[in-house]
Amino acid sequence: FESTVPEELGDPAVRASEVPEPGAVTIVVPTFNESANIRELLHRITESVPARLPCEVVFVDDSTDDTPEVISREAQDCPFPVTVLHREEAVGGLGGAVVEGLKAASSDWIVVMDGDLQHPPSLIPELVASGERSAAGLVVASRYIKGGSREGLAGGYRIAVSRGATWLTKTLFPRRLRGISDPMSGFFAIRRSAVTAEILQPLGYKILLELAVRSRPREVTEVPFVFQDRFAGESKSTAQEGFRFLRHLVGLRTASPVARMVVFGLIGATGFLPNLLGLYALTAAGLHYVPAEILANQFGVAWNFLLIEHLLFRERRKHRSWWDRVGRFALLANADLVLRIPLIALFVGHFGMGALSATALALVMTFVLRFVGTEALVYLP
Ligand code: GDD
Ligand code: MN
Repeated sequence: FESTVPEELGDPAVRASEVPEPGAVTIVVPTFNESANIRELLHRITESVPARLPCEVVFVDDSTDDTPEVISREAQDCPFPVTVLHREEAVGGLGGAVVEGLKAASSDWIVVMDGDLQHPPSLIPELVASGERSAAGLVVASRYIKGGSREGLAGGYRIAVSRGATWLTKTLFPRRLRGISDPMSGFFAIRRSAVTAEILQPLGYKILLELAVRSRPREVTEVPFVFQDRFAGESKSTAQEGFRFLRHLVGLRTASPVARMVVFGLIGATGFLPNLLGLYALTAAGLHYVPAEILANQFGVAWNFLLIEHLLFRERRKHRSWWDRVGRFALLANADLVLRIPLIALFVGHFGMGALSATALALVMTFVLRFVGTEALVYLP
């Protein structure tokens, strides 16, 4: 390389920084009670990473067992630096841990992998090499391209759930996930320069999805891999993790106000069900349909409130107390109903609109008003 650079290019220090380095790699491993896997993992990393690829391993640990002590002990036999960041509070779960690791990493390349050996360490050099060859910012180890498979994903049920989640996710983010066949993979290499740690909002297991959607690395390539069986212990994933994933999806998809309004509308539409059921039950119990209508509307409001609190504005609840939010939300929802009739009368009487188009316009107007009101008055940004 040196010989191709004419002397006039100036400061050799500047030129040196332009030389493509062979690259060093920081391996980030999130761990939650994995003490029985540490020794084997470090052993296989030692075997896999050649001397010409300088590496360090950063464990980000939320364990309640002796995993951090085991790591410190085993690290003494390693030819590369090993650090453990133990977190007292497991903020963001697995994804939160990985982001801590990304922040602590000092190499050009960061490989993220599980600590249970379901991700073969032998692939680490290939992930980095593939990124260097293609000048990609992100290299995904995929189970869904030729040469990859998911041996370790036991059971038809888990495979079906995994397929469904992958399909849903790819459908929700067609552009951002172009070229990523396995957005659920927890095994990937990313250039440190492609990580925008400060804008990430990790929530649970799907950290690659978070990075692909929010950090948006420019080029992406994939390398096939076989998802192995666990070496020791059991998966830490729970049903609760499934709900966390849904919340994560909604959070990623509603970064823009327009997308938030669509979700707000969809949640609103599901409110018809408790509303109608309530109306049916109350009139069947002998209540006059007008008070029944008013009461049943509150069932719909309560339903919408719950979903909107937990799915759409979860992160924005902190600005007001629970009672304050309930009161304001219910007021807006009922004002919406009260406002609609005079609006329709105005459109028909004053502007000569047909009843149907007047109703449609009033519905759209009060809906937008209600959304804007809910954003501005109940859940401050
Ligand atoms: N620090 C930290 N905090 N680590 C965690 C936490 C946590 O709250 N929860 C899990 N981990 C660690 C585990 O100790 C393990 O090293 C790794 O994250 C993966 O956890 P598993 O419990 O083994 O996950 P899995 O095998 O069900 O899921 C893996 O495969 C999926 C694909 O089927 C993960 O890689 C997923 O990201 C991936 O989608
Ligand atoms: Mn696992």
